[in-house]
Amino acid sequence: MNTTTHRHSGTRRRVRQALPIAAILGATLLTGCQQVNQSLTIGDMASAYNREIFWMSIWAIALSIIIFIGVSYALFYTVQKFREDKHDAPPAQFHGNNKLETILVAVPVVIVILLSVLAVKSMAALNPTPNQATKVDVLARQFWWNFSYPETTSDAGGVVTNGNEMIMPTKEAVALTVTSGDVIHGFWAPNIGGQRAAMPSVKKTWQVDNDRAGVYQGNCSQLCGASHANMRYKVVALDQERYNTTLAAMKAYRAPEPAPGSAEARGFALFMQGKASTGAVACASCHRVQGTPAAGVAGPDLSFFGTRRTLGAGMWEAMTDAQWTDAKAAGELHAWLKQSPVVKPGSLMPRYDGGEYMVQGKKVKGGTLTDTEIDDIAAYLRSLKLPEEADYWKGTPVHGAPDGGTQ
Ligand code: CUA
Repeated sequence: MNTTTHRHSGTRRRVRQALPIAAILGATLLTGCQQVNQSLTIGDMASAYNREIFWMSIWAIALSIIIFIGVSYALFYTVQKFREDKHDAPPAQFHGNNKLETILVAVPVVIVILLSVLAVKSMAALNPTPNQATKVDVLARQFWWNFSYPETTSDAGGVVTNGNEMIMPTKEAVALTVTSGDVIHGFWAPNIGGQRAAMPSVKKTWQVDNDRAGVYQGNCSQLCGASHANMRYKVVALDQERYNTTLAAMKAYRAPEPAPGSAEARGFALFMQGKASTGAVACASCHRVQGTPAAGVAGPDLSFFGTRRTLGAGMWEAMTDAQWTDAKAAGELHAWLKQSPVVKPGSLMPRYDGGEYMVQGKKVKGGTLTDTEIDDIAAYLRSLKLPEEADYWKGTPVHGAPDGGTQ
């Protein structure tokens, strides 16, 4: 008896000791590591998708509690009623008791049917035929994202696409079609609902939504290589009118033509042609900029780079205008352009400091650009801006940030 008590209090102590560890682990998993704005919110009730999952869980948990109480009651009742000291004779045998056996089969069958009905009902609600919904095509690559709007062809040609930052309307279902250009990735932006594997040559469509305007965090949820943890994105939910304005501006957008002789103009020339004499590959061979001949698809679309506030697929964020001009942010962009595979392991973007980097297991030597040339390209990239009224970041609350504030 004594040992039992001892063992139990030991178990309780272990559970008490484990709780803070579990809490810390949970917090680490849910908040990311470096910056506060990268926290993920699971169970955001502003999303119909999440509400459906929540209520299905509540019903399943309620059913489990009823079963638990029923089984516990039956157990204690039996133990109490048929104690050995009350009954000298062996207990009655019930082999061949048809009534009891029927009940013991029927009850679990009913429970399984109830749970199946709940699950099937939710599955039907979460996978409607997406015909009315706004459509967004999601392409995952090592280690970045492209978000295209297949129903919106830009005036300059090609489908409107933004790298690493996705806009969507609030209070409306959005049909995402997810695929991958290389290995298996995972699309996971819990505030808008659900998670889907992004698989090469497979296209999967499902609907997500959120009623509340805001910037939400998205992460790759499938271990996909060296920079799996650096494969992040933002989902920016905008109220319908603002969404329409932004998408219309994206449709009409043509990259601004740099003034002759400016840093932007020099940057644009390097962007388009590279520098053959030093082996520096042209950015345009991998990136698209709407309204220019740059139409590369091996890297993220850079059409609206100057409006974006994240860099390197969410490795750096909160890149506001004020911060871009600050030495640190400018330094990050400079380092990114110069030594991408150094600052982001596994990045396939070439090095421009002449150093070596790995492409598919092979060592490749990068080209060389001077620091001034790198800064010229940075200046050009920062000039790629949507008009003010289409800046989807401006005034949009960043959810998950402790101050809930805008950037
Ligand atoms: Cu892509 Cu992990």
